[in-house]
Amino acid sequence: MTEVHHGDASPQVFSAANRHWWDLDADDYHDRHPDYLGTDSPHGEFYWCPEMLHEETERLLGTPEELGAKNILEIGCGSAPCARWLAHDVPGAFVTGFDISMGMLRHAGTEHDAHLVQADAAALPYADAAFDVVFSVFGAIPFVEDSAALMKEIARVLRPGGRFVFSITHPMRWIFLDDPGPAGLTAITSYFDQSGYIEEDEDTGEVTYAEQHRTLGARIKELIDAGFTLEALLEPEWPAGVTRTWGQWSPLRGELFPGSALFVAKR
Ligand SMILES: C[S@@+](CC[C@H](N)C(=O)[O-])C[C@H]1O[C@@H](n2cnc3c(N)ncnc32)[C@H](O)[C@@H]1O
Repeated sequence: MTEVHHGDASPQVFSAANRHWWDLDADDYHDRHPDYLGTDSPHGEFYWCPEMLHEETERLLGTPEELGAKNILEIGCGSAPCARWLAHDVPGAFVTGFDISMGMLRHAGTEHDAHLVQADAAALPYADAAFDVVFSVFGAIPFVEDSAALMKEIARVLRPGGRFVFSITHPMRWIFLDDPGPAGLTAITSYFDQSGYIEEDEDTGEVTYAEQHRTLGARIKELIDAGFTLEALLEPEWPAGVTRTWGQWSPLRGELFPGSALFVAKR
């Protein structure tokens, strides 16, 4: 049985719980979202969020001309559908991705041009100013205990003037149950409570899932404190005509409030 509570856990507990959880969920995650993740193609797909913003139309990272010959890093890449798509779309770019879960990385296969490694976002294994562009698509940012420290680490590995773009679940979703239906429309917890969401095995006491929450203002402050300038904050609307649910994302909820937040920042 799983016990859920709001509270704190150490950075090591966050990392261990997430590695374990994503290893276990990797196969189901790819079975649940085959089109979105481009599972039938070695080149993946690059959707920023369940509202289906695609990098081919949005170009939040820059045009292919701007990205040619650039060093690009994806944080918490999972099976790297986005890094693989980008490496294929921009042949001159050197695209690296890392993830803490080997179970997720394994789904990337080997027939692609991205460079993938297993690493923990809580300890970035890269030199200062090693990258021109850093991005994350629902990657590690909410899954490390100290995202303020991660923002500073990202600023360290990004060259001055470099771009950092990331998508996360919109912070206001925190107050609702993770449910695409009517149960997900009633507020059950405070938006302002920034303690973590922790799941524990009732018998062993082992933490099996850990996620943190920051308000929108706190996320922006973490970026500014790390030396970034925020250039855009996107809150995409649910697209007309998309009737399917995606985890807790659904037309019902999407019509009423945002599900995803995308931050576009410059170092
Ligand atoms: C929602 S999935 C997103 C994966 C991928 N970006 C995608 O769009 O399919 C979150 C990913 O973050 C990874 N993750 C969680 N904590 C991490 C950490 N501390 N360091 C690196 N990756 C982490 C998980 O293993 C998982 O692959």
